[in-house]
Amino acid sequence: MTAPKDFNDRMLSLGLARVSEAAAHASALLIGHGDEKAADQAAVNAMRDQLNMLDIKGVVVIGEGERDEAPMLFIGEEVGTGDGPEVDIALDPLEGTTLTAKDMPNALTVIAMAPRGTLLHAPDVYMDKLAVGPGYPVDVVSLDMSPADRVRALARARGVSDRDITVCILERPRHEEMIAEVRQTGAAIRLITDGDVAGVIHCAEAELTGIDMYMGSGGAPEGVLAAAALKCMGGQMWGRLLFRNDDEKGRARKAGITDLDRVYSRNDLVTADVIFAATGVTNGSIVAGVKREPGYLTTETILMRSKTGSVRRMIYRNPIKS
Ligand code: FBP
Repeated sequence: MTAPKDFNDRMLSLGLARVSEAAAHASALLIGHGDEKAADQAAVNAMRDQLNMLDIKGVVVIGEGERDEAPMLFIGEEVGTGDGPEVDIALDPLEGTTLTAKDMPNALTVIAMAPRGTLLHAPDVYMDKLAVGPGYPVDVVSLDMSPADRVRALARARGVSDRDITVCILERPRHEEMIAEVRQTGAAIRLITDGDVAGVIHCAEAELTGIDMYMGSGGAPEGVLAAAALKCMGGQMWGRLLFRNDDEKGRARKAGITDLDRVYSRNDLVTADVIFAATGVTNGSIVAGVKREPGYLTTETILMRSKTGSVRRMIYRNPIKS
């Protein structure tokens, strides 16, 4: 038996950037065209093609869905040349399909890679999420606190008033009570219509984005991607799976989850060093969207490694192939 190959995250990360750039490039031509499916499909095709060029023995653990509902980049699909380290891949070729179709801010292509068996196989259910940036005491807030108590605790830890805190929340009817409760504290709220991976990442660069805390429910797969990003940038995150019916509980059990009420910390969602890349599709506060000039597309990618905490921003200009 040959020894398993090392997870050479340093060199692999550069390859990962190409994967996310390619997906952004492909979906860029569909920005603002009102066709979510076409934009997503273009990103999926491009991401898969690039991923299969990497020297890895990869398995998609967070992907486009179960094998019977997604023909490409489905959960369990083996990707890469097969000649390289055994890795888990979490991806969302287009995080914010509606944002892209409507040309609204913060659509991203997102991918994370870590040694095999170290990314939570999150089922396609909702997750209750809470995140803050770096520099706070451990467990400064928790999922068991009320939304108002979280604001107060964070304001105390920062030595500011509740009014100086900005919370990011997905605008959904299910969050109406949460929004009302946060408003009562005097804190500001940045409502987003989609894209909670970006929502969580915003907390890691509070000075740049103005967001101190993210809370609310969204996709569990997106929760793992967001945790991977925060593990690289610093910051704390917690997630608890939410189930609407027995079918969803069955999905979790199928993914190997036995404790359905567990609160996962950032390091439970991503248990080893991880690399993460995201490329802007539409303009956002973390990375710029794809820029179109005659004959060229330019992308901005954020590429990070948790081992070193390094954050690289890469600008890539490439001719449009006809
Ligand atoms: P898409 O990329 O499929 O458009 O998902 C975007 C998103 O907003 C995620 O960021 C978020 O986790 C999820 O959808 C929220 O789900 P819902 O729209 O059901 O509230």
